[in-house]
Amino acid sequence: AATERESLYVVSEYARDYFHETMLNTEQGKAIGLSYFKERGFTDETIKKFQLGYNPDQWDAFTSEALRKGYKLDFLEKTGLSIVKEEKQFDRFKGRVMFPIHSMSGRVLGFGGRILDSSKKAAKYLNSPESDIYHKSKVLYGIYYAKQSIAKEDNCYLVEGYTDVIQMHQSGIENVVSSSGTALTSDQIRLINRLTKNITVLFDGDAAGQRAAIRGIDLILEQGMNVKVCAFPDGEDPDSFSRKHTQEEILNFFNENAKDFIQYKAQLLVEQSKGDPIKRAEIVRDMVESISKIPDTIKREIYVQECSRIMDISESVLYNTLAQISNKNQ
Ligand code: CTP
Ligand code: MN
Ligand code: MN
Ligand code: MN
Ligand code: MN
Repeated sequence: AATERESLYVVSEYARDYFHETMLNTEQGKAIGLSYFKERGFTDETIKKFQLGYNPDQWDAFTSEALRKGYKLDFLEKTGLSIVKEEKQFDRFKGRVMFPIHSMSGRVLGFGGRILDSSKKAAKYLNSPESDIYHKSKVLYGIYYAKQSIAKEDNCYLVEGYTDVIQMHQSGIENVVSSSGTALTSDQIRLINRLTKNITVLFDGDAAGQRAAIRGIDLILEQGMNVKVCAFPDGEDPDSFSRKHTQEEILNFFNENAKDFIQYKAQLLVEQSKGDPIKRAEIVRDMVESISKIPDTIKREIYVQECSRIMDISESVLYNTLAQISNKNQ
């Protein structure tokens, strides 16, 4: 019910404050959490704005304090902040720096928690479990901070990670949200669609990021939106890239390297096919698959012409392929 959901928000917002204040006001918080973020180049202002925090490496530092303050164990458990096992209560996030995840209107829905020592066996990021207020596939990290800028710029940068969003903000680029991983969903794109029809994908410059961008293109086109992709040098992501450059340099890089989806796929062709005609045919078919997702027939026609020109294949052959694909999908 609505009142129960409100209780889950309230307990999540208490947790946000606890993690934030623990980081800023305790010795362990300062020595471990705060210095981690400082080493990543985040300013005090950025740390405040994104309400970043730290939970000590203890069994139940947060949970016991929350219970002492009168928050109900039931709600702590339902948000996944606390885990109850054999009548004992533990914190879900231990010894991690904390990133609160906000709704479009700024309520706290859940958290991402990062381990400090990447050499540990634990997953680098641990996220809140699904709950009545947190559905991973339906949230975009940073949307609350980005919405005005997305509308104003009439474009949204889409990145993979929490730190990509934060570092770009610090560089003065605010129209940016993260899919929190590479598994972009239609629900996430729908959130952006309310603010702009234009998405520029900025996924990591590794094989996983490239694969995810290819998959994302079709999901974005399906909603009648325009999509560009800007590839990063291998090993770079928007966070690492932004740290090394000024706002002007970053924006210049995006403007020069963001390619319309057809151009982006054509560039992969040059890199991957090495003149192999079979691979070339596969890529043309793949481009036509993407074109077939576009709902608007005029746009589709324009992309057929573009594809024909770039790949040097007649428009009529491309139209036949389009027809084959749409028959197959019926
Ligand atoms: N992610 C996750 N669980 C993991 C790894 C990643 O949920 N085990 C999500 C996080 O939201 C992360 C995003 O996927 O921010 C992108 O992953 P990755 O590129 O590996 O991490 P970065 O964001 O670059 O993190 P960092 O710079 O802190 O290493
Ligand atoms: Mn729900
Ligand atoms: Mn990545
Ligand atoms: Mn990354
Ligand atoms: Mn990174």
